[in-house]
Amino acid sequence: MSRQEEIKKLIDMREEARLGGGEKRIEKQHAQGKYTARERIEMILDEGSFEEFDMFVKHRSHDFGLEKQQYLGDGVVTGHGTVDGRIVYIFAQDFTVFGGSLSETYAKKICKLMDQAMLVGAPVIGVNDSGGARIQEGVMSLAGYAEIFQRNILASGVIPQISAIFGPCAGGAVYSPALTDVVIMSDKTSYMFVTGPKVTKTVTGENITTEDLGGATVHATKSGIAHFRADDEDEGIMLIRKTLEYLPQNNLEDPVQTECKDPIDRLDDVLNDIIPENPNQPYDVKDIIYTIVDDGEFLEFHRHYAKNIVVGFVKFDGRPVGVVANQPNFLAGVLDIESSRKAARFVRLCDSFNVPILTLVDVPGFLPGSAQEYGGIIAHGAKLLFAYGEATVPKVTITLRKSYGGAHDVMSSKQLRGDINYAWPSAEIAVMGASGAVEILEGKNIRKIENEDEQLKYITEKEAEYKNKFANPYVAAQHGFIDDVIEPRNSRFRIIRAFKTLENKKLINPPKKHSNIPL
Ligand code: HXC
Repeated sequence: MSRQEEIKKLIDMREEARLGGGEKRIEKQHAQGKYTARERIEMILDEGSFEEFDMFVKHRSHDFGLEKQQYLGDGVVTGHGTVDGRIVYIFAQDFTVFGGSLSETYAKKICKLMDQAMLVGAPVIGVNDSGGARIQEGVMSLAGYAEIFQRNILASGVIPQISAIFGPCAGGAVYSPALTDVVIMSDKTSYMFVTGPKVTKTVTGENITTEDLGGATVHATKSGIAHFRADDEDEGIMLIRKTLEYLPQNNLEDPVQTECKDPIDRLDDVLNDIIPENPNQPYDVKDIIYTIVDDGEFLEFHRHYAKNIVVGFVKFDGRPVGVVANQPNFLAGVLDIESSRKAARFVRLCDSFNVPILTLVDVPGFLPGSAQEYGGIIAHGAKLLFAYGEATVPKVTITLRKSYGGAHDVMSSKQLRGDINYAWPSAEIAVMGASGAVEILEGKNIRKIENEDEQLKYITEKEAEYKNKFANPYVAAQHGFIDDVIEPRNSRFRIIRAFKTLENKKLINPPKKHSNIPL
């Protein structure tokens, strides 16, 4: 073969690999409203930055006539490129080749790129669109999955791992995304479940559709498995890139500060009146978040799940910060099983990757009731407590209104190593609200009063007394649990200065194998 012919062969082989399972299957993929693996990679990465690995890999199976069906690349496209100029490793499952199913060699390709990502300290993006284990390869395929899981586990907390689910993801295959930091699902075209509708029907008799069992809406609203439900793949791709903007390359680096044109000393007069006079009246804590952060930009995680707590990434003076805020607009901002788990996971994500945490507190306590107790709110609430107490990143807290009981301690209190704890004048930091306290402390006296009007008058007086004494920020401030009571409109500047002050914070937990967080 002449040199010219050698080069032509290379070009032809590349061309063949790029076609995956062939034109027909690509057309089918498009007809379903899905991009191909290579199109996805091109869109996720900076233009022209993709370098592919292992394009010439083929499977080694000889069963079920598979040896006659060979596709260059074997159903997964792997390599590296850049997002906003920073290196990332990426794999995209190619549904056009054996339904994107995972073979021994396919798993090896993914493991290779994960190993290299760990060596250089760069994020891994995984795009899932697969029929699961390649049935013809049997146990080799199961072993391949386990190899990937093991790498997901060791990479956790070292490099950011982001999973996009843009098609099927079923059986044990779901555990790789589940082990990663962020899961993004495309609406209507993706699903995730351990057991599909057919087996569900056989085993339990339950009749349920794929969408209702494991669609993006289910995981974004009911299970909390998906951090984001994207309207389509384009939005999902945008979310991958956006998420990476707030994270460093690895746990030894800080997130990147970008230029900020939004004035850091901007006063937000609207905040002085944002808390309603009536303590039982809700308001939207997101209005506060949008007001104080750079350019009103907030990348909210889990927007549709456990809405009584709000979490996500923002920037202050161009520096990424994770926000955790109780949401009075939903269930009065109470802490329950789901919101505790949601926030705990987010706090740990921030702490793993050196993203400082801002906590906005307006919490009436934990949700009472047998459903919560039987469901293990003790352990789930402890997760959030644990996550905050363990976190060593800079922690700034502002108590906006209520901060009652155990929930007060949990929400980044001073004693959980909150670095700077501010309160607005509207803060009520106490064991419980005035009406609950009066009911308990004055119950006997109240019942002795027979006249209803007299009774009401007595209750009102006692509540006012309690409020005066406890339902304010000054008792906590007297003890130094609150560092300063600030005017709401100054919040943006105070937060920025607080994080700037804490920039070089050094705090190291005692050496240990690992903690034993109440899972
Ligand atoms: C080999 C597979 C495959 C698989 C699909 N294909 N899944 N080949 N192993 N697991 C092939 C099909 O034969 C077909 O080949 C092509 O991919 C496209 O599949 P279709 O069925 O035509 O596509 P569609 O109608 O869109 O249905 C997609 C699907 C379905 C719902 C994913 O293919 C399906 O149910 N696949 C099997 C899923 C499954 O049971 N997987 C094993 C789960 S157990 P041609 O040549 O016709 O294009 C598992 C365990 C993991 O994954 C354990 C980890 C620890």
